[in-house]
Amino acid sequence: MIVTTKELFKAAYGKYAIGAYNINNLEQAMGLFRGCVDSQAPFIIQISKGARSYTHKIMLEGLIRSADQVFPDAIFAVHLDHGDEETCYDCINSGFYSSVMIDASAESFEKNVEITKRVVDAAHKKGIVVEAELGQLGGVEEHVQVDEANAKLTDPKQAAEFVKQTGCDSLACAIGTSHGAFKFSGSQGLHFDVLEQIQKVLPNFPLVMHGSSSVPQDEVARINAAGGKLAGAKGVDPTQFKRAAELGVTKINIDTDGRLVWTRVHREYFLEHPEGFDLRPVGKIFMAEYAKFIEQKNNYLGSNNQIDAVRKILSK
Ligand code: G3H
Ligand code: 13P
Ligand code: ZN
Repeated sequence: MIVTTKELFKAAYGKYAIGAYNINNLEQAMGLFRGCVDSQAPFIIQISKGARSYTHKIMLEGLIRSADQVFPDAIFAVHLDHGDEETCYDCINSGFYSSVMIDASAESFEKNVEITKRVVDAAHKKGIVVEAELGQLGGVEEHVQVDEANAKLTDPKQAAEFVKQTGCDSLACAIGTSHGAFKFSGSQGLHFDVLEQIQKVLPNFPLVMHGSSSVPQDEVARINAAGGKLAGAKGVDPTQFKRAAELGVTKINIDTDGRLVWTRVHREYFLEHPEGFDLRPVGKIFMAEYAKFIEQKNNYLGSNNQIDAVRKILSK
């Protein structure tokens, strides 16, 4: 069942975070739904602009609608990840997305407010909720190139003003993470002090943590042992998710770790089966491994076994 993130956040706030997982194809969709249904977790499907153009945006919609039929117990939101203004309107008008992210974080504060407010007005008219972003993550975001050295953490005072002026429904904050597999070069980590200050000025307001893949070292080692070259890849400690959730983070974005599962499964399979050329045996292994990975993530997020509580809220 497709719901808005608003309903999911109401159930989760202060207790756990909802996993927001990027998908691009059928195998990821099957693994994601299987993993969330098996762990009884509500979830968010994220679709990036790149994912929409990988095959065709209509293909992804069709996949998700079909997965909804195959897994009738699933409860999830469909969310545009890192949208520009034009893509937000396309998703709002599609009648399919329940949530969009407008990412104007590379703009000045005033311009970010202006663009976000326009998207919020258009989305709210159709009952669609909006995530916005303030501050800049390190690494590379779809259309936003940010040097890690210049990454700017979210200013708590600005955050309160931004939410007031835009009317957005949730806020992606920069608290030290970055996208991709190379987040930390040394002992850096999450800035819980900044998160605490943001929660103080925005009590009960859902916050979002992007760039939250953990880049498990055993996964990286297996990829490298099977011919990969991912030296020095490092991510967020997943045992910190629950602390972040207590401080108001209700949505945690994970994409890179899923790509690592894909890379490991395919590298190992073809190393062990140099004669192989059938896509299905390896596809089957990937779907099962992806489902297992999703279950593990949901356990860290605390969203496992929460589906009944969400169903109760929805039935009120
Ligand atoms: O933050 C970006 C997400 O990981 C999506 O990546 O734009 O390559 O689909 P993508
Ligand atoms: P990762 O690259 O850490 O998986 O972050 C994904 C993300 O923030 C998508 O918006
Ligand atoms: Zn992101």
